[in-house]
Amino acid sequence: MMTKSSVYDCCIIELNKIHNRSGNITVIEEKIDIPFSIQRVYYLYDVPGGSQRGGHAHKDLHQLIVSASGSFDVVLDDGRNKKVVELNRPYYGLYVVPGIWRELFNFSSGGICIVMASHKYSEEDYIRVYNDFIDYKNV
Ligand code: TYD
Repeated sequence: MMTKSSVYDCCIIELNKIHNRSGNITVIEEKIDIPFSIQRVYYLYDVPGGSQRGGHAHKDLHQLIVSASGSFDVVLDDGRNKKVVELNRPYYGLYVVPGIWRELFNFSSGGICIVMASHKYSEEDYIRVYNDFIDYKNV
């Protein structure tokens, strides 16, 4: 558990880009391109304009959030500080450490958000109520 984690522990990771006239490739290998092992990948798509996703924190989960197509904004919140990050390139990943409240919004039409996660899905790992998050962070 990382109850003391802060938004400043989260960062943009510039991923590799294998450039080719017929298109680019970005590769993400666990423990090489990102600082954790990947147990799960999921993606958000067909997000209606004006929708908000996220709105929760994780106790133990590390994530890398990538805009594979289009753009969206992510608000990170550690209970004391907030940081807003725009993701709009497939070769930039936002590394989010455990213990951070996050909200995703401003999805462009056709936007696709890919998330690499350090653990399998577990509802017990979620904090879904903001006041519970503030208690958890002991702010
Ligand atoms: P949630 O993580 O709350 O979505 P978001 O943060 O994008 O708004 O998940 C939405 C629903 O999908 C919830 O009922 C749980 C389910 N879900 C899974 O079953 N497995 C998963 O890996 C994920 C990410 C979600």
